[in-house]
Amino acid sequence: MNVKTRKFGKEASLYTLENDRGTVLELSDFGARIVNFYLNVNNQRRNLVLGFDSAEEYAEKDSYIGATIGRVAGRLSGSSYTLEGQRYPLFHNEGKNCLHGGAKSIDSRMWQTRIAEQEDQITLHFSLLSKDGDNGFPGNLDMTVSHTLTNDDQWIIDYWAKTDATTLVNPTNHVYFNLNQERTEGIGNHLLSLDADQYGVLTDTLIPTGELRQVEGTPFDFKQAVAINQGLRSDYEQNRLVDGYDHPFLLNKASGPQVTLMDSQRLLKLEMTTNAPAVVVYTSNMIDEPVRMKDSFQVKHGGVTLETQQLPDGINHPHFGSIVLQPNEIFESQTLFRVSLVK
Ligand code: BGC
Repeated sequence: MNVKTRKFGKEASLYTLENDRGTVLELSDFGARIVNFYLNVNNQRRNLVLGFDSAEEYAEKDSYIGATIGRVAGRLSGSSYTLEGQRYPLFHNEGKNCLHGGAKSIDSRMWQTRIAEQEDQITLHFSLLSKDGDNGFPGNLDMTVSHTLTNDDQWIIDYWAKTDATTLVNPTNHVYFNLNQERTEGIGNHLLSLDADQYGVLTDTLIPTGELRQVEGTPFDFKQAVAINQGLRSDYEQNRLVDGYDHPFLLNKASGPQVTLMDSQRLLKLEMTTNAPAVVVYTSNMIDEPVRMKDSFQVKHGGVTLETQQLPDGINHPHFGSIVLQPNEIFESQTLFRVSLVK
């Protein structure tokens, strides 16, 4: 295994982690993000994720792609919350709501890095102190997000956080997968299986209504592997509302793999295992014009995210589970992706 570092724009760095099979994970300290994930498919190097070529390009075009998202992923309705009798106003960066931790949040910060090499894996640890009052969130929040590449083609993300005052924590990673050779061929023909009986219904401003609806008989049923097009092309009201999927699914089991994704040609398979209770599936719906990306374009429905987390807006829906972190507690969560060839 080996690791190399190079510049990724003016100030940021790009870390290249390569295993003995030639699988490569590239990460940047700008937003503690994944930039590239290369697998050898029929003697051709294939990038499985969307990403840009420099930190500046992310800052200009879309800082969420591949980044660590937080402190609280998704939308917090009304940009405020009340805890222990106190109201905390938050930064609102999408209408009246706070999306992905507010503006220029941890996805747009420079993180400290430390590399740890072992015989069969390399880990890049990213650390950041999000200061008391950051976008309105109380408490100094010490965060570490570790990305590991193993020799058997697993990419593992470990989240760790500690606070000095009661606060909210619900981080995720905003990686967009597209397992096709051609970037502009969207993810509609990807086969998805997802071990979830229920999903969270959204309002027209994409806030969870609080209803957890059975997937059965709807285009949200991925209990058997089915093409993502089942929702992209459906008239079902929740799909039309967002022009695809932008919904949390409540995972049935805490053991995995809970999600499997295959490319259009069924050549390769990505399996996801997490101990987070939910995953938000976003099918890159809000792209009106193709965006220049490397030597190709990011197109509408050109990527799918698997954002593992607690159900979003949980602080306003007690039955969604708690995202409160107390000073005497440690937040920990793990998500693992394993890639393999089908044939
Ligand atoms: C949200 C989308 C949002 C996107 C921004 C996703 O996590 O669910 O609604 O547009 O992030 O990149």
